[in-house]
Amino acid sequence: IPGHDHQRPQEVTLEEVRAVLGDCRLCPLCETRHNIVFGVGNPNARVMFVGEGPGKNEDLKGEPFVGAAGHNLDDLLALAGLRREDVYIANVVKCRPPSNRNPRPEEIEACSPFLREQIRSIWPDVIVCLGNFATHFVLRTEAGITGLRGRMHQTGHFVVMPTFHPAAALYHREWQSYLDDDFRMLGRWLEEHPAS
Ligand code: URA
Repeated sequence: IPGHDHQRPQEVTLEEVRAVLGDCRLCPLCETRHNIVFGVGNPNARVMFVGEGPGKNEDLKGEPFVGAAGHNLDDLLALAGLRREDVYIANVVKCRPPSNRNPRPEEIEACSPFLREQIRSIWPDVIVCLGNFATHFVLRTEAGITGLRGRMHQTGHFVVMPTFHPAAALYHREWQSYLDDDFRMLGRWLEEHPAS
């Protein structure tokens, strides 16, 4: 994670991070967004999910993963024995890229302090990276998901599970069974590593 010192820092609350984000105008995505999609969930979550960026429904609602990908995510959470209220969900970029294009490097750069601070605040045991953008952000690798998924990775304090993006599996149906397998693996990991 860029700039991460892997030491639990002094407490920073999600409310404080959200307040600093304010009505952010740090990158051009502010011109076209309807709402900033900061993130939702349990501030003490053991598992934090990181997606790519808001889509149309998320932009309109101001909440992550509320469209078709979100329904898939809900089903996947159940496979891991988790409910949405147990976890925290955020994205690499907080504002919707027009027409759901990929976020640009300068947009990711502008937004990255906020995700970094969210991670510091929640201090989860496991970070689940949904898709390439989250994986590249957290694991600092250019390697593709296909070669990284299917096992837990360790980076500093965090265990990281890179997996396919739940929206991608709606187009590549053959990826869904890998996603299912990964979330079952997550469930097993949580059972084997009870909260301390
Ligand atoms: N895809 C994402 O990456 N994030 C969302 O919040 C919704 C869809």
